[in-house]
Amino acid sequence: MYTIISKTTVAPSTVMIHVQAPWVARKAQPGQFVIVRYGVEGERIPLSLSGWDREAGTLRLIIQGVGATTKQMIALKEGDSFTDLVGPLGQRSHLPDDGTLVVIGGGYGTGAVMPTAREAKAKGRRVVGIIGARSKDLVLLEDEMRSVCDEVFVTTNDGSHGMPGMVTDALKIIMAREKVGAVLAIGPVPMMRAVSDMTKPTAIPTLVSLNAIMVDGTGMCGGCRVIVGGETKFACYDGPDFDGHKVDYDVLVLRQQMYKPMEAQALDHECNIVKAMP
Ligand SMILES: Cc1cc2nc3c(=O)[nH]c(=O)nc-3n(C[C@H](O)[C@H](O)[C@H](O)COP(=O)(O)OP(=O)(O)OC[C@H]3O[C@@H](n4cnc5c(N)ncnc54)[C@H](O)[C@@H]3O)c2cc1C
Ligand code: FES
Repeated sequence: MYTIISKTTVAPSTVMIHVQAPWVARKAQPGQFVIVRYGVEGERIPLSLSGWDREAGTLRLIIQGVGATTKQMIALKEGDSFTDLVGPLGQRSHLPDDGTLVVIGGGYGTGAVMPTAREAKAKGRRVVGIIGARSKDLVLLEDEMRSVCDEVFVTTNDGSHGMPGMVTDALKIIMAREKVGAVLAIGPVPMMRAVSDMTKPTAIPTLVSLNAIMVDGTGMCGGCRVIVGGETKFACYDGPDFDGHKVDYDVLVLRQQMYKPMEAQALDHECNIVKAMP
């Protein structure tokens, strides 16, 4: 059973949970994700691994309630269990080893970049973190980011915490003063696109994690097709990390919007279920 052993609200509609999954914790690598389902008729959704404890046999997940399934999941309590949990899925992150590593997180992406930042720091690399959010209450995991980075910038769109502006404003400062060897950016598509546009002219290797809609998560169904460097790739199997300079973001956004009417219908239906949950 994939029991939730702890749950903490880390921002509005966003929870951090630790879940028992010893076999997955044993194999987990930075950049990988799991697919979880709650309830026999529940939807399977991909969630990034934001940490794991191999000895305790637990995974750490950050879940943002954006639609029917994630809203249902953030309403779960300690002691509840996921019906199934598959993973670790996808390829581990591979980044060049020299120069400063800049990790950039927006939303749940701040949790998703954490394993890579932690690993790089443990190897003695200089790591600079950037956390981006619309406002102060949406800034996630700032203390933890400070503990795994040499320096951290926080940017908020409304200026309520850290630097006013976007993650790219902080990236610009870092790029102007030191040799950046690689960038890892995980968050909303516009953020990953803007970061990639900024690093492309100077060819700084930039990885982004593509949140394509997924079904099986094993490369069998084709649901997560993305175009990278003119080729069709499966985000679940070939990724989720890809070279941000080669991603066709327009196709990604179009495919993400394919199920909007069904998602709205499911949300309407599921809100009533969440309200009725004990
Ligand atoms: C590799 C990967 C890692 C992810 N990691 C996290 C994470 O750590 N934490 C987190 O909160 N979210 C994560 N997501 C996004 C999360 O899977 C979606 O928010 C979730 O599936 C939405 O389901 P829903 O029913 O709540 O919302 P819906 O109403 O179904 O959708 C809301 C939006 O989420 C996207 N979405 C819908 N279904 C899927 C799907 N099956 N796969 C991917 N995106 C979808 C669509 O763009 C849609 O507009 C990740 C996605 C991917 C692909
Ligand atoms: S989710 Fe089915 S191929 Fe990727």
